[in-house]
Amino acid sequence: MSKSVEKVRIMDIDYDAVNHAIVGWTRLKESPILFPYAETVKHHHDHWNGSTAGGLKGEEIPLNSRIIHLADRMTCIIKNDKPVIGQETKIIKQIERLSGKFFQPLLVKCLKELIMEESFLLDITSDFLPSLINNYAPSIIREVDLDGLMSIASIFAHVIDNKSTYTMRHSLNVANISVCLAKRIGFSEKEVKMIEIAGLLHDIGKLSVPDDILEKPGRLSPEEFNIMKGHTYFTYHILNSIDEFDTISEWAAFHQEKLNGSGYPFHLKEGQLSIGSRIMAVSDKFSALSEDRPYRKALPNDEIIAELNVMVDSGDIDGKLVKILKEEIKEIRGFINKEVVLNKPVGSQKK
Ligand SMILES: [Fe+2]
Ligand SMILES: [Fe+2]
Repeated sequence: MSKSVEKVRIMDIDYDAVNHAIVGWTRLKESPILFPYAETVKHHHDHWNGSTAGGLKGEEIPLNSRIIHLADRMTCIIKNDKPVIGQETKIIKQIERLSGKFFQPLLVKCLKELIMEESFLLDITSDFLPSLINNYAPSIIREVDLDGLMSIASIFAHVIDNKSTYTMRHSLNVANISVCLAKRIGFSEKEVKMIEIAGLLHDIGKLSVPDDILEKPGRLSPEEFNIMKGHTYFTYHILNSIDEFDTISEWAAFHQEKLNGSGYPFHLKEGQLSIGSRIMAVSDKFSALSEDRPYRKALPNDEIIAELNVMVDSGDIDGKLVKILKEEIKEIRGFINKEVVLNKPVGSQKK
């Protein structure tokens, strides 16, 4: 089943797939920062009556998982193209049908009470949701060092790459190539870690692109390409909202900018593109050309270099970096084809 078909099927309230819960648990339990959430994720599709294969039953299921399960299935019922007030009868009918089967009856009762308040329905579909959540449950501020950030970025990279079967290793490849180039041009140890994080997250804005565009088995139409063009804008603003991420957000988000100013979305020019941003652009191009796409197969080294040279001649990307890349191509090809251990800093795996 393709990813987009699976995502459509899971919007059917009765189709309660557990595979992604196990995948999520596998990734989170290895993370030094996010491991406390692993069990909640693992059981968030377990049925109250124990009918899920291999799942827990009743109160054995963590309470957080039971709540998330109910909330998750409820989102399948709400029609976003209609006013949310007025949908309460339909929501309750569907949820009650599964009370005692999928859901704990007590939680269904709580939901029924909440749903009768218009403000609850408006809250859960509101543009103000982030600040509303902050009011109910103020953010937990936790200091995380670069290695901790790396482990979180690594999980996000898997989520981003899994959006499409065509990009299964793309973010990891971009991070690896960027680390290789950064070391060659003398980045400090801290800067190398920063560019690895930027590589892992450079396409995080693709989470805003519809799956049918990312999974399209052919070239994008001009309109679809325009939607795709927005992804680096989202990358910039998602990452720039994180404290201390000023440099990482620029390195990550400017990978479609060109030295001659004809890139997108900010149309930056040579003098505005730091060496980190230029590394990201070259790494992204190399990685993309080394991967299968719906309209072409992965290219061999000599064809990739020929393509990159055309881009250098057009004033798109940095010729000095392409030269280094050519010198390192054997090593780069080696780790592009290597399996990556989940949640471990990518650069540390290729020794
Ligand atoms: Fe991109
Ligand atoms: Fe990319």
